[in-house]
Parts: sequence; structure tokens; C-alpha cells
Amino acid sequence: MRRAKITVVGAGNVGATCAHWCAAAELGDIVLLDIPRTEDMPRGKALDLMQSSPIMGFDSNIVGTTSYDDTAESDVVVVTAGIPRKPGMSRDDLLSTNAKIVTSVAEQIKASSPNAVVIVVSNPLDAMVQQMWKVTGFDSAKVCGQAGVLDTARYRTFLSMELGVSVEDISALLMGGHGDTMVPLPSCTCVGGIPVTQLIEPARLEEIVDRTRKGGAEIVSLLKTGSAYYAPAAACAQMVEAVVRDKKRVIPVAALCQSEYGVGGYYVGVPAIMGAGGVEKIIELDLTENEQAAFKHSVDAVKQLVASMNELLSA
Ligand code: NAI
Ligand code: 2OP
Repeated sequence: MRRAKITVVGAGNVGATCAHWCAAAELGDIVLLDIPRTEDMPRGKALDLMQSSPIMGFDSNIVGTTSYDDTAESDVVVVTAGIPRKPGMSRDDLLSTNAKIVTSVAEQIKASSPNAVVIVVSNPLDAMVQQMWKVTGFDSAKVCGQAGVLDTARYRTFLSMELGVSVEDISALLMGGHGDTMVPLPSCTCVGGIPVTQLIEPARLEEIVDRTRKGGAEIVSLLKTGSAYYAPAAACAQMVEAVVRDKKRVIPVAALCQSEYGVGGYYVGVPAIMGAGGVEKIIELDLTENEQAAFKHSVDAVKQLVASMNELLSA
């Protein structure tokens, strides 16, 4: 049986770690690509990773490259190319630089892997995935963004720390953009099937939600030289697995919402079924009035971000 071909664009912290998780889980053969200016760096990381395989016991082939020829006909492409946040920067500060990078990456993916499912990670996520979809012209089901799996994982981690229970027993959902306006849904958060609202007082839950919203900035302030990568890369690997193993996972994904939730043609984080076809179905929940208002606020922030990006790109 042919193994899935997974390309990771950007061999930096998130990209190389994503290649690592994907290889360790034997999700397929991996191509790790970076810009020519990085010279042999992607080849070095790929070879190093390959040399861990006899110890870790995985059979993925990993190639490092600066040429899109090596990525041809990939089944999945994860895009981590771009600059990360430094302390004091918001995700939106990355807009101008990363919009140009993602535009050029999208053109190359369109030419080399026209049938791939593309998972965008570069920030500001919601605008970058919109740009990827626009430039590739791919079916919207095949272009999505990673943010919600990470944000939800942060929320689940904080809840498990609070309650002293296994993270495995916490299921949760966050919607909206990948930013300070993200919308946690306590009504969809359970601990071993028990609604979280029966276990944590509202004021304390709000503090945990707030820490989740600021989860990326918390890591930036600790690392000082860049942003989080272990959890983001694990989140990408989960999405890659959903596609290459056709898992039909129900996970939060930045997906193109047309009529869904009344969004009208923007990428935003929503629960979706993810499988071999990419985003196979967006799940529409009945939101409470408060949740609807918070979601609308988040979508408005995404719309503004996309408008700023389009202005910058046309200047
Ligand atoms: P990094 O600086 O470690 O790696 C980025 C890599 O992209 C570098 O190796 C760079 O040479 C490469 N690159 C730049 N332009 C390129 C191009 N045109 N083609 C191919 N590669 C190119 O940064 P890190 O930490 O890996 O973060 C990458 C991006 O992911 C950032 O924009 C960051 O904000 C974002 N991010 C998003 C998350 C999310 O949940 N959506 C979570 C974590 C990071
Ligand atoms: C994060 O949430 C920087 O978006 C990245 O860690």
C-alpha cells in the first residue's frame, strides 16, 4: 500500500516538530521544506529525524529540501512558513510579512500538489488560511487552518490541572478566531461526561477561559525568542492523522463558513468532521444568546483582519 505523502512547509520550530510527531506516529512519508536561504538546514533536520527511527521504531521516510519538486503530489501539506511572535507582538503584527509568504507558498502548492489537503498554521491564522484558499483556488473543504485543536488542548490542560484529573477525560470545544476573541463553550465542556459547570464555579471557570485565550502569549513571554511549538505541532499531527487515516474526527477547525453560523464567506474556527476529504462537514450548534454574541464579535475581528490583509497586499 502506498504511504501517504505529507509535506511540511517551513522547517522551523513548529514545522520540524510536526514532522517529528507525524513520523513517530507513522502517518506517512514526510518532506520538510524551507526556503533556499536556509541552505542545508531542512536536509539536516530530516536526516537527524530519520536517524532517530531505529531507536524509536518508526518506518517513515523523511526528506529535507528547498525545492517544491520533492513535494509533488503530496496528500497533505502543512504550512508553517512565516515569522513567529516575539514578546510584545500580537499575532496580527505578523500580518504583512506572513501574508506575502503564504501567498507565495500557496502558488507553489497549487502547482505541485493540486489534490492535497492543506492545513495552514502560519499566523495570523484566520487571515492566512483565507489567503491560502483564495490563491490556490482549491475546494474549500481541502483548505483549513489549525488553531482550535491547540486552543482546546490548552483549555483541557488547564482544566485537568485545576481538577487534578486526567486530560483524557476532559472534552471541550472552542470556536471563533485564533486570537483574544476566541469563544470557549462551557456548555460543551465535560469531565468524564459531567458538565464542567457542575465542578467549577463560574468565576474560576472564567479565569481558566481567560488563561486559555492568552495561552499563546503566556508561552511567548516565557520563551522570549519565539512562540509555542510542541502543542501546536501535536495539534497539526492530529489533523494530518484525521486526513491520512480518514478518521472522521470531530474537532475544531478553521473552515470556510458561508451560510454556516451566518458568517458569509470567512474562515473561522468551528466544530467539523475531518477525514480523507479534508473538512467534510461543518457542524452547526445551537449557541446561547451570549455565545452567539461572543462568536459574532470574534468573526467581526476576523473580517477586520482579512480586510487589513487585503489592503496591505494591494498597496
Ligand atoms: P520558525 O521561525 O521557527 O519557523 C518558520 C520557518 O518558516 C523558518 O524556518 C523560515 O525559514 C520558514 N519560511 C519563511 N518563509 C518561508 C517560505 N516562503 N517558504 C518556506 N519556508 C519559509 O517559526 P515557528 O515557531 O515554527 O512558527 C511558524 C508560524 O506558525 C508562525 O507564523 C507562528 O506564529 C505560527 N504558529 C501558529 C500557531 C497556530 O496555532 N495556528 C501555533 C504556533 C505557531
Ligand atoms: C500560539 O497560540 C503563537 O498562535 C501561536 O501559541
